[in-house]
Amino acid sequence: MVSLNSPREAAAWCDRQRQAGLQLGFVPTMGGLHDGHLSLLEQSRAQCDVSCASIFLNPLQFNDPADLATYPGDFDQDLARLAQAGCAMVFTGTLAQFFPEVEEERDIPRLSPGPAGKGLEGRYRPGHLEGVVTIVDRLFRTVGPCHAYFGEKDFQQTLVVRDLAERLRPCGTRINVVVCPVIRGPSGLALSSRNQRLGVRQRATAAKIHQALQCARTAWRNDRVRTPEALESRMRAALAHPEIVIEYASIREETRWTEHRPAGKLSRPRALIAVYIDNIRLIDTLLL
Ligand code: PAJ
Repeated sequence: MVSLNSPREAAAWCDRQRQAGLQLGFVPTMGGLHDGHLSLLEQSRAQCDVSCASIFLNPLQFNDPADLATYPGDFDQDLARLAQAGCAMVFTGTLAQFFPEVEEERDIPRLSPGPAGKGLEGRYRPGHLEGVVTIVDRLFRTVGPCHAYFGEKDFQQTLVVRDLAERLRPCGTRINVVVCPVIRGPSGLALSSRNQRLGVRQRATAAKIHQALQCARTAWRNDRVRTPEALESRMRAALAHPEIVIEYASIREETRWTEHRPAGKLSRPRALIAVYIDNIRLIDTLLL
């Protein structure tokens, strides 16, 4: 595996692959790699001729400095995992390398996440999705035309990234965004870099997130519960626990994303949850 510390060199490497007629797959990450990340690489390897990844702990998307400071990750271990999983090239860079035109972080112009940035993550993590699209735009421009792999766990992120890819198309950067299923542990807990910060007891408590999503699915499928309010109250009941602080437990429609809870007949309803367990923020989602 080639490991590059410069976006410019990474761009040249990607150009060479395309010039050789190879289809390129790309997996952007912030490190702290687990089997969820590796599943994206696996899908990329199954669909593309050659796969690459990025590791960049993007400060622009952290609205909470303590979260950034404690974000887990071991660079050498991440490199070893990627190499073993068949990644051909991994790159990283500094904020200054990704944004050479500005002097300071605060001068970096933030891109808008578009309409899909409204509500939920957009509401509860102000600036987060702006930070995501701002860096993903640079990562996409670095890698160039490719298939880019993202996890459904960060569902709202996949919507704003798809939107970004549409906006890049007229500039000649054709990015095909591929969304991959959530990888879970044995208890149903979605794998997440932040899980490393959970203690044994907290990890057991966190299994309630997936149980609550399943509750909403059962209510929708078996009990024919049809209103977002009723589905949400089932999730809240399933999440009730002294250690869980619910940020949201919401129903949204996949195809008609709005800031507000949908009204009337639901089409492709999706349950989305964000909670804090001892100040560790966890999110998960399930299509009902
Ligand atoms: P990060 O949290 O490192 O996640 C990288 C990718 O892995 C994302 O697309 C995420 O949805 C996916 N992923 C995480 N956990 C997963 C799981 N349990 N199953 C399947 N996929 C999973 O998301 C980011 O980084 C950043 O926002 C980034 C896109 C890299 C921009 O900075």
